[in-house]
Amino acid sequence: MATLKGTILNEVSSLASKAMKLTPDLPTDPLLTANQFVGQPYARVDGRLKVTGGAKYSAEYPLDGMTYAALVHSTVARGNVTDLDTAAAEAVPGVLTVMTYRNAPRMKAPSSAYVVDMANPLAGSTTTLPVMQSADITWNGQVVAVVVAETLEVATYAARLVRVEYAAQPFRLSLTEHKAEAFKPDHVVLLPAEITKGDAEGNLALAPVRVDETYTTPYLNHNALEPHATTAIWRDDDHLTVYDSTQYPTGVKEALVEMFGLKADGVRVVTEFVGGAFGGKVAMWQNVPLAAAAARLVGRPVKLNLARASVNRTVGGRTTTEQRVALGATAEGELTALVHSGYTMCTKDIYAEQFSTMARHQYAAPNIHVWQKVVELDRVQNSFMRAPGDTPGSFALESAMDELAYKLGLDPVELRRRNEPLRDPTEDTPFSSRALLECYALGAEKFGWNAARPAPGTTRQGEWLVGTGVATANYPTQPLPATVRARLTPEGAVTVFTSSVEMGVGAATVQTQHIAERFAVPFAQAHYVQGDTDLPVWRAMGGSAATASVGLAIKAAADKLTDELVKLAHENKASPLHQADRANVRLHAGGLYLVDQPTVGESYGALLAGLTKPFLEAEGSSPPPTEGAKYSMASYGVHFCEVAVHHSTRQVQVRRFVTVMDCGRIINPKTATSQIRGGVIMGIGMALLEEAVYDERTGRLMNPDLGEYHVPVQADIPELDVHFLDLPDPHAPLGLKSAGEIGIVGAAAAVANAVYHATGIRVRELPITVDKLL
Ligand code: MOS
Repeated sequence: MATLKGTILNEVSSLASKAMKLTPDLPTDPLLTANQFVGQPYARVDGRLKVTGGAKYSAEYPLDGMTYAALVHSTVARGNVTDLDTAAAEAVPGVLTVMTYRNAPRMKAPSSAYVVDMANPLAGSTTTLPVMQSADITWNGQVVAVVVAETLEVATYAARLVRVEYAAQPFRLSLTEHKAEAFKPDHVVLLPAEITKGDAEGNLALAPVRVDETYTTPYLNHNALEPHATTAIWRDDDHLTVYDSTQYPTGVKEALVEMFGLKADGVRVVTEFVGGAFGGKVAMWQNVPLAAAAARLVGRPVKLNLARASVNRTVGGRTTTEQRVALGATAEGELTALVHSGYTMCTKDIYAEQFSTMARHQYAAPNIHVWQKVVELDRVQNSFMRAPGDTPGSFALESAMDELAYKLGLDPVELRRRNEPLRDPTEDTPFSSRALLECYALGAEKFGWNAARPAPGTTRQGEWLVGTGVATANYPTQPLPATVRARLTPEGAVTVFTSSVEMGVGAATVQTQHIAERFAVPFAQAHYVQGDTDLPVWRAMGGSAATASVGLAIKAAADKLTDELVKLAHENKASPLHQADRANVRLHAGGLYLVDQPTVGESYGALLAGLTKPFLEAEGSSPPPTEGAKYSMASYGVHFCEVAVHHSTRQVQVRRFVTVMDCGRIINPKTATSQIRGGVIMGIGMALLEEAVYDERTGRLMNPDLGEYHVPVQADIPELDVHFLDLPDPHAPLGLKSAGEIGIVGAAAAVANAVYHATGIRVRELPITVDKLL
């Protein structure tokens, strides 16, 4: 292995020197080479707390006088409430109130929703729709009443007694049916909705080998282990505290301040632990202001812990997509044309899932045309879900590449190799780093990939047809602004505070490693405290951005603390660093030491000895990104998969799965591997099981819970073999690229491609259920 890794490093640097200028734009950061803590497979720092039940989730804060809420959902998709009878529910002993639009406190509608950018970070709300302020209904599942009672059981029972009459209006539910009304959005998550390079359609028509197909992916719902939960409590009329299961406490705070017209510090959001989120908790859904409004109405704390069905009726998931991928190639397998276009759903607040992102950056086609349109439907706002855009987009693109490989009679790995670009194909910028072919090489070796595979549908083992498939992963690296406060004590302990969240990804663990490395203190002396909007501002735990962005802020805080320590040394005539030059000191071995004389210096304890405060503190913020425009920056990877399909029942078993990723520097191979495995599991679920089914006559979600909405269980998942190249990106912050979401990208295509190889049946419509293989 060491040899292969060495070869990869050499190949990467020679590729790099050909493709990009290697002038060091970023100051060399010691993190790139340090490895005492960074790079080690530390177990989760919060593991013990979690397995002993000590970790508190948002529905687990016992407050005096707690009350419990249950929801009543609309049963029509569009229209208005004409009659409401709450008397029977209110008469149930223990019911405190039934909140409807008639008695709900006045709340402003959020002024903005969702995605924005660095200059105007993510809005805190998912929609700009008013919440329970009128009789209007805009989706089937919208909350029409909140029943608050002394116990959850009473609230749940009484919710069934609320009678609602509606005047229904015609609604639009289906993407396919309303395609004629599709329009081009202003942007697809900040990217242009259309990009044209050369003449793709013209060259497609001329190409000797062509694939031109339509691929569809169904609506997918979030089903994190922890349902969305909010516990809300008011102090007087102007201060609200919410314990909320969110990826973005700061956004929730800002949205609630706006909706309730409070002062900027009138809301505190506490989110210590989140039990899975996957994008479904990035911005605020209606359950949060509803819990706050109900708490105001009853004058007591309210706990609104959504039932699974309530989550799936009120929290949007990933849009249905209909995508065309057309590839034109020479007989030698060089792409001459690439078209990726199609449709997704949206609501009034347009969130246009950017499925065409990967096609813009993946293959060296001289002619590329991508475009996306949206169809406005009367549905719950669609939303972020793990690796938005690239997940459905990679299913279409990587299925089409597989189809092209068969048409050419070429190994699909070789097809990728022949179309690997040296510069970004649509932006014409150099890649900051891109070791995708090295991922393919290592993956093929680990999997035992056979470049001369038998023909599709011809490999039989007993009752099973066996096949293999491969697909590429690609996910952008993007920063978000972060601020942290770092505190250093005379005992040599360092604590970093910020309003990020532990949602199961290992954030606290990797940042603790980074803190120990950066401040040169033992692991046990490094601490990371998060999950409260009273702490310095971090934006959403999303976009696979936190590790690098918070990491940069920690570096900035460490630099400021170093300045402070130098000042203290300069003020102290007895200090060996009394005359030390700022440029010649560094944090090292639990103190401050000269760079050129590593034994000359002082411990933190000695430096802080004369301090009148109990600790030294400094805030640091991540610098605005300057690199972004110059480089195409992303993580890359490959999935190899083996499936077996039963010859008569057509049951599909995923038998083997090997994934190799180039995600830059890996701080913790254990937590990073777990991230990729989670992504692959979601990808297998997407390929074979997951589909939200709506009744087209009513807009009603027919499988709102896990009894009918199927996700993979242990028996569906084989051993997942994950490898990282662990190559620091020379232009990315701290050498880190995105590692949280990319595991799902391409995973569904790898399964679909393996199913084709096993059976000879190409399924272009997910999920690959038994009926599609008959
Ligand atoms: Mo991720 S879908 O950016 O939480």
